[in-house]
Amino acid sequence: MLPHPILIDIDSTNVDSAPCCGINDPAHPGLLEKRRWLKAHLKLGLRAKILVDDDGKPCGYIEYLPGEYAWRRVDASGYMFIHCIWNHSRRNRGKGWASAMVKACVSDARVAGMSGVAVMTRKGPWLAGSALFAANGFRRVDIAPPDYELWAVKLKAHAPNPTFRDGFDAKTTRLSDELTIVRSAQCPYIAKFAAEISQSAQQKYGIAPQVLNLRSARDAQNAPTPYAVFSILSRGSVLADHQISRIRFHNIMRSEITESRRSSMVLVHGLRHPSLKTEN
Ligand SMILES: CC(C)(COP(=O)(O)OP(=O)(O)OC[C@H]1O[C@@H](n2cnc3c(N)ncnc32)[C@H](O)[C@@H]1OP(=O)(O)O)[C@@H](O)C(=O)NCCC(=O)NCCS
Repeated sequence: MLPHPILIDIDSTNVDSAPCCGINDPAHPGLLEKRRWLKAHLKLGLRAKILVDDDGKPCGYIEYLPGEYAWRRVDASGYMFIHCIWNHSRRNRGKGWASAMVKACVSDARVAGMSGVAVMTRKGPWLAGSALFAANGFRRVDIAPPDYELWAVKLKAHAPNPTFRDGFDAKTTRLSDELTIVRSAQCPYIAKFAAEISQSAQQKYGIAPQVLNLRSARDAQNAPTPYAVFSILSRGSVLADHQISRIRFHNIMRSEITESRRSSMVLVHGLRHPSLKTEN
């Protein structure tokens, strides 16, 4: 039997054939975008590893890169920054496999002479929770609303902590369109969600959303939300700060419409969503 966990490095020679976040369709637009994105970021020091289970099947992933190029709203210069980590194989959870991925990252950061390793966590979907990092010597160094945490392990004792970049409110209120979708190629699922939501917004609610495609780490570090790479905003308010399905989008819009109707009784009738096509 092979020693576990098995980690396979993604590099420029195998990036086009490496498994990608459980997406099997080779023509999936998000997969193609993500591979182009990976190729560009491998040149900037990105490292990505696939975790393989006992049967040789891909079951996990870690992706990290120098903090200067982090696609999150953080200032993590000098730190290695973990974008994603997951171990999808429930029967192989709790065996230290994710810790092995974290340790591989810390080892790379040490070899590269970096200040440490940083990661963003939260309890909700699309980011790992903090327990894994607490168990691996990380400490919480910053928080951002509503429930984001920044954790770091230092390799240089006197290095300044990484931080969230503040100014979220100023950023969101500038995005005053009826609907804005912020998207990027960092996660391969974003392309599908963003396209479906954009289409639904137009067909079901008569709103042509403004779609902002983040093209660089600098764009992401200035994005309106901490997670940065996907969000939906309406008139300066955040409707979603991580990837959501079309169904979730409908539910949010329904409650926005209800709220709008309620406030229109005291304000000017129909002012908030003049172009909404409701179901009844
Ligand atoms: C978090 C995750 C990676 C942990 O994987 P794992 O292989 O089970 O982790 P490990 O076995 O290496 O656990 C390492 C340590 O973290 C702790 N830990 C990990 N997840 C934990 C949790 N949910 N609650 C409490 N402790 C946890 C373990 O107790 C262990 O501590 P110990 O070494 O002191 O016993 C896995 O549960 C996962 O993939 N979750 C989803 C993450 C996600 O959504 N990522 C974003 C996807 S885009």
